[in-house]
Amino acid sequence: MDAVTEANREAWEAASRRHVREYDDLLAQAASGPSLNAVERGLLRDILDGAPEVVHLQSGHGLEDAALVQAGAKSVVGVDYSSTAAGAAQQPADELGLACRYVVGTVPGVPLAGGTAGLVYTGKGALIWMPDLGAREAARLLRPGGHLFVYEGHPAVPLWTWDEETPGIRADRSYFARNHVNDTFPARGATEWQWTLGQVVTAVITAGMELLSLAEYPEPFWRPGGVNAAAWDGRLPNTYSLLARRPASPGRP
Ligand SMILES: C[S@@+](CC[C@H](N)C(=O)[O-])C[C@H]1O[C@@H](n2cnc3c(N)ncnc32)[C@H](O)[C@@H]1O
Repeated sequence: MDAVTEANREAWEAASRRHVREYDDLLAQAASGPSLNAVERGLLRDILDGAPEVVHLQSGHGLEDAALVQAGAKSVVGVDYSSTAAGAAQQPADELGLACRYVVGTVPGVPLAGGTAGLVYTGKGALIWMPDLGAREAARLLRPGGHLFVYEGHPAVPLWTWDEETPGIRADRSYFARNHVNDTFPARGATEWQWTLGQVVTAVITAGMELLSLAEYPEPFWRPGGVNAAAWDGRLPNTYSLLARRPASPGRP
């Protein structure tokens, strides 16, 4: 693991202790299953109806996994390089009897066999920690015909100020910068990698997957408590979804 990735992993070990401290809240949220939003449920409905085996890359607190199982997934294997996050996600899943299992691993380089997942799910603050987007790893994990789903912060988000009156662009940021240092919770001081929408789509296609859907939305996936930025009032992109598929057989949809 390179030095920047190791420093980011340590930042996430520290940030993930919150999931241990706030276990009762985590358990309650996992039980009630609200952690897939309407966009995710709409795009994933048909796929989840087929009871896929899911791999969740950068699984964090695992709340989406509880919701995925409750919405039809046969099972979820979460992968996270923070052993604290993986442990904190396993506990409520076990207590609720959910078919979710967590492994400690780094993306790319996931310690799972390839070619078996019906759905690879990732996002909500996952890709910004990746110096390699991991699209080839997602394609490796998918069975032929399996889907990749990403619901993520829009690449333009690092540019937005949190001014509550007027949407604004930060003078210290560029859409085309390679990275910047995170200056908010939860991983303050960690290196955030910037991937343009074009780079994300190109990585997915280059990994051999077919792009089925790409959409941008004004609503952020996360609103830090107490902040109501004008950049979130509906005029600017704050999230996107991407659905892709590994062809059923080489060269055939
Ligand atoms: C903001 S969370 C997003 C995940 C989940 N959707 C959530 O909301 O908890 C980011 C997670 O990605 C993990 N992570 C970041 N880079 C990773 C990598 N290269 N391999 C595995 N896990 C990674 C971190 O440890 C953290 O738990």
